[in-house]
Parts: sequence; structure tokens; C-alpha cells
Amino acid sequence: MKKILVTGGAGFIGSNFVNYILTNRDDLFLVNLDKLTYAGNLENLKEVENHKNYSFIKGDITNNELVDYLFKKYSFNYVINFAAESHVDRSILGSEVFFRSNVVGTNVLLEASRRYGIEKFVQISTDEVYGSLGPTGLFTETTPVSPNSPYSSSKAASDLMALSFFHTFGLPVVITRCSNNYGPFQFPEKLIPLMIINSLNGKKLPVYGDGLNVRDWVYVIDHNRAVEIVLEQGKAGEVYNIGASREMKNINIVKLILSKLTKPEGLIEYVKDRPGHDRRYAIDSSKIQNELGWKPEFDFENAINETIEWYLKNKNWWQGIITGEYQKYYKTLYGDR
Ligand code: NAD
Ligand code: DAU
Repeated sequence: MKKILVTGGAGFIGSNFVNYILTNRDDLFLVNLDKLTYAGNLENLKEVENHKNYSFIKGDITNNELVDYLFKKYSFNYVINFAAESHVDRSILGSEVFFRSNVVGTNVLLEASRRYGIEKFVQISTDEVYGSLGPTGLFTETTPVSPNSPYSSSKAASDLMALSFFHTFGLPVVITRCSNNYGPFQFPEKLIPLMIINSLNGKKLPVYGDGLNVRDWVYVIDHNRAVEIVLEQGKAGEVYNIGASREMKNINIVKLILSKLTKPEGLIEYVKDRPGHDRRYAIDSSKIQNELGWKPEFDFENAINETIEWYLKNKNWWQGIITGEYQKYYKTLYGDR
């Protein structure tokens, strides 16, 4: 049985990955190391918490001693590093924790992987490292890295550190760069869950700037299927873009959510733009499609409906989140609206 250190497995994408793998595979043992920041939630893992091929460790990837202890104890075959501070707006409010978790944390994992030896290190990165596109063109793996926010800069730094471990030490590192994900368990600071929940609560929907920024949407399970394929077939030292070619203007996503929930467009409120707001992201995923045989399986119309349904059916999940600390964060970012 191959053993995988999955970091950040209590967050949105990581918990969907853990649930997906444990449901579909019985040849992999997952050790989930997660600090349980505001974004980490063990409720996401209720269905698998007692699974025989699963173990949860609460801890920080920047903790050298803990990481060393885990490598010694488990002799991991693979590392998949999902753990990160992931929200652009929070990185604008304060960048230090982004540097610590995303850059220092990745470095601690790389060093331990080098000391103990592993078969593959998958660094979960983002299309945001490429910066911003104009009205045309797509990000490819050879697009120069040119990040604009403290979040994307910290992700780019960790990508470069990971690639340097391949070039310098021959550590079998692979990088994935995915576009915007949506699906169950996404923390309601991100566009889609925030707009669903505010609509349900009859609150204003804060749209930044002119609402015409474009993001390229992929369903979280398609992302995780790609991660699974890259883990097993990805070539060391390579970068793989992941995306489903589903570009949408923000305002159109917001209007779509309102219409599915039969709520009035009057709830939309245009607010001050995000500083340094990237205008457009769009991914060319032909490399992973041609070389590794992955392709997106989820159709946007169905998957967004299912996602909205999930938030309707799981009010307890998000009602437990949007209290306390979340309210403070919300007020800092959006004021009293
Ligand atoms: P998330 O914020 O929902 O979850 C992050 C998880 O990492 C949380 O469980 C948190 O507790 C954990 N974590 C944070 N710092 C940690 C630390 N120092 N030690 C251990 N655990 C720590 O994020 P997400 O949206 O699930 O994103 C997961 C990864 O995918 C990130 O690396 C992100 O950059 C990348 N990514 C996200 C998207 C997206 O659309 N959400 C797209 C492409 C790439
Ligand atoms: O592209 C991949 C990235 O996608 C990931 O690396 C990040 O972890 C993830 O957070 C996401 O980044 P974005 O900044 O694109 O996602 P967010 O959901 O924060 O915003 C999506 C778009 O919606 C963006 O153009 C900003 C806009 N927006 C967002 C919020 C929260 C609004 O207009 N209003 C809002 O309140």
C-alpha cells in the first residue's frame, strides 16, 4: 500500500481529494496533515474519519520537528501539498502568514522529502502565478510567471523553490496549476459560495469594480482527478495546467446564482475594486490532456446546479462558519453591508 502525505486535507480542495480517493481507491493510505486554520474543517471529512486507510494529524507544515517525525514514522511514497493560505483578499489585508505557510511550509516539506526520499512530490499551485491576461490568449505552461498579489507571489515562490529541488537535487517534483475551482465545502469567502449564501440570507452581493473580470471555472472533482493522474503519471520537473475552458465574467456568475435561487438582481451591489485585481484568467490545459489523458468530465451547467443544491442542503455546514471570526473578517472587508 502506497502512503501519501496529504497536507491541507481539511480545506476545500484537499477534503474533496481525501473523500474522492478514499471512496474510489483501496490501495492508498492517506495521512492528512492540517493546521485547521479558519479554512480547515473536520466536518468536511465526517464520512471518512474512521476509514482504515486514513489518519488525521493536526499540525503545521512549517513545523520541522513534526514533519520530520511523520516522515520517519510513515516512510511516505508521495507528498501532495494542498496546504496554503488561499484567499487573495486576506493576503491584501496581511501577507505574513501567506509567506510563512506557503513558502516556508513548502520548503520544510521539500527538505524532509529530500532527506527521506520519496517517489513524487506534487505541489498544488494555481494559474494566478501567471498574472493577468488581456481580452485574448491563454496561460500555457511556458507563460512566464508574473504574480500580482501577495497570495499569488507566495505561490509562485513555492513553485520555484519546488522546481529548484528537482533541478538541484533530483527530487521528483511535479507542479499543477489549476484555474478557479467550485463545488461542495468551499469556504464562503470565495466568490461562488459567498454569493450563494448572501443570496439565501437576503444580503447584498458585493461585486468588485465593474464585474467584468473573467475567471475560468473547473469543478473540484475534475481538479482532483487531474491531481490523481499527475501523482501517478506526471513527469518529474514538469508543470501541468488544469482547467475546463469555462470562462465567465464575474457579474454573469452572480446573475446566474440569483436566477437559480429566484432572488432579485437588486441584491447586487458594485463595490470598490480589489487592489491589483487581475482582469482575466484562462487556461490552456492541452498538455495534461495530450500527455496524461486527463479531460474535464463535469459540465458547468450541471455542476453549478449541484453546487448550489449542496449549499441549500447543507445550511448547517455554512451557518456554523459564518459566525464569530468570519463576521469580523466580513466587516473589515465589506463594511456594514
Ligand atoms: P483552503 O483555504 O480551503 O484550504 C487550505 C487548507 O490548508 C486548510 O485546511 C488549512 O487549515 C490548511 N493550512 C493552511 N496553512 C497551513 C499550514 N501552515 N499547515 C498545515 N495546514 C495548513 O484552500 P483551497 O481552496 O482548498 O486550496 C488548496 C490549494 O489549492 C492551495 O494550495 C491553493 O493555492 C490551491 N488552488 C486553489 C484553487 C481554488 O480555486 N480554490 C485553485 C487553484 C489552486
Ligand atoms: O485562479 C485560481 C485561484 O482562484 C486560486 O489560486 C485561489 O486560491 C482562489 O481563491 C481563486 O482566486 P480568485 O481571486 O480568482 O477567487 P475569488 O473567489 O476570491 O474571486 C473570484 C472573482 O470574483 C475575482 O475576480 C474577484 C471577484 N469577487 C470576489 C469576491 C470574494 C467579487 O467581485 N466579489 C467578492 O466579494
